[in-house]
Amino acid sequence: MTKTAIYPGSFDPLTFGHVDIVERSARLFDHVIVAILTNAQKAPLFTVEERIEIMREILKPRFANVEIDVFHGLLVDYARQQKAQVIVRGIRAVTDYEYEFQMALMNRRLAPGIETVFMMPAENYSYLSSRLVKEIAELGGSVAGLVPDIVEKRLKQRFKTGITE
Ligand code: PNS
Repeated sequence: MTKTAIYPGSFDPLTFGHVDIVERSARLFDHVIVAILTNAQKAPLFTVEERIEIMREILKPRFANVEIDVFHGLLVDYARQQKAQVIVRGIRAVTDYEYEFQMALMNRRLAPGIETVFMMPAENYSYLSSRLVKEIAELGGSVAGLVPDIVEKRLKQRFKTGITE
């Protein structure tokens, strides 16, 4: 039986921490769907189209069994629709635990057949987050080594022009 995993998130923007989790997932599962949440309530820095473009450029050439998609609504409904057995989440520090624990158990209640699997990124990415990357870039700091080059370039462009949406 094909093992399909969904790796959901906002990916605004993609960091090396995310790439690390994709790599680990691609080794464990036959098919990995990296699924970007389209959330009307959140004001993202990059549009969904931009995030797809970035992810295609970075992930497609490296991982043959990884697909990029977009979802809205409940994650478990999307996972069922994709016939995925697993939801992958990256977990960094203890501070991630409470939110992830709540979400995993709520998802299990909604869809008992779908298992959440937590993975830890390499320790040098354990303090990395999209939120901090955006903040550093906006304030003129260097995000080299934290995000792929294409993300770094786009962050520079974005904050140079002052356009944040
Ligand atoms: O990268 P993020 O922003 O931490 O990812 C959060 C995400 C997308 C996994 C979460 O917000 C989600 O699954 N949203 C979809 C709506 C949903 O299913 N909500 C109930 C969760 S128990």
